[in-house]
Amino acid sequence: MNLVVADDYPDLCRRAAIAVRDVCAAPGPAPLAAFAVGATPEGMFRELADRHRAAFSRLQVVQLDEYLGLAETDHRLLATWLKRVLLDPLEIGVDRFIRFESLAADPERDASRVEGMITARGGLDVAVLGLGPNGHIGFNEPGTPFDAPTRPVDLTEESVSSNAAYWGSRNAVPRRAMTLGMSTLGSAGRVILLVSGPRKRKILRRTLHGPIGPDVPATMLRTRDRVTVMVDRAALGADTATTGK
Ligand code: F6R
Repeated sequence: MNLVVADDYPDLCRRAAIAVRDVCAAPGPAPLAAFAVGATPEGMFRELADRHRAAFSRLQVVQLDEYLGLAETDHRLLATWLKRVLLDPLEIGVDRFIRFESLAADPERDASRVEGMITARGGLDVAVLGLGPNGHIGFNEPGTPFDAPTRPVDLTEESVSSNAAYWGSRNAVPRRAMTLGMSTLGSAGRVILLVSGPRKRKILRRTLHGPIGPDVPATMLRTRDRVTVMVDRAALGADTATTGK
């Protein structure tokens, strides 16, 4: 695992966009990527759209996670969010986007369908992740074994609270979701974890230095090669153990 320390949020976004561009522009078969939505990657998405559009003409995108039970017109669909920040600006059409069915009658089966499409493409080339305040990656919540597959999950109360910031209230946050599994993320060709701001300081410290195990799912990344954790100084705080690496 590499640690990259950016000066501030704009610097983090610039560096993240360049790292993603480099993976996606590499020669070879069309790359497959999964992206978190949320507050952290917003600036990186703007950078991709403003400076690096040309690198994404072949990119295929698979959804990292999605709420369950939402109609196609519901503004809370994470697919709609991803469309706004990434797919539309980079002109990635539906033919290059693999998504979960929020209204799937059989979510387990839908998870297998998505996993099968990833396997058929040779796995993920890159997963760009955010860090939940409870250490989740995707919607792999605390307690998730590192070999957990892509599947439907129940959100923890802490994730409902953090997601309430997106939709105005806790009541507006769906309680069930789909997520790519720990095993799928852990076997990606490259993982980039983005962490910004003082709100993430405590969980970042546990992620980088705490015991490795399912209590903090993001610690799984310390057991994998080809992982880059990109943080800004505000998230790192006075973490002298890692500053300067
Ligand atoms: C969202 C996702 C989540 C977020 C995490 C951090 O698609 O996968 O794991 O990345 O909750 O969210 P922000 O960036 O809003 O702090």
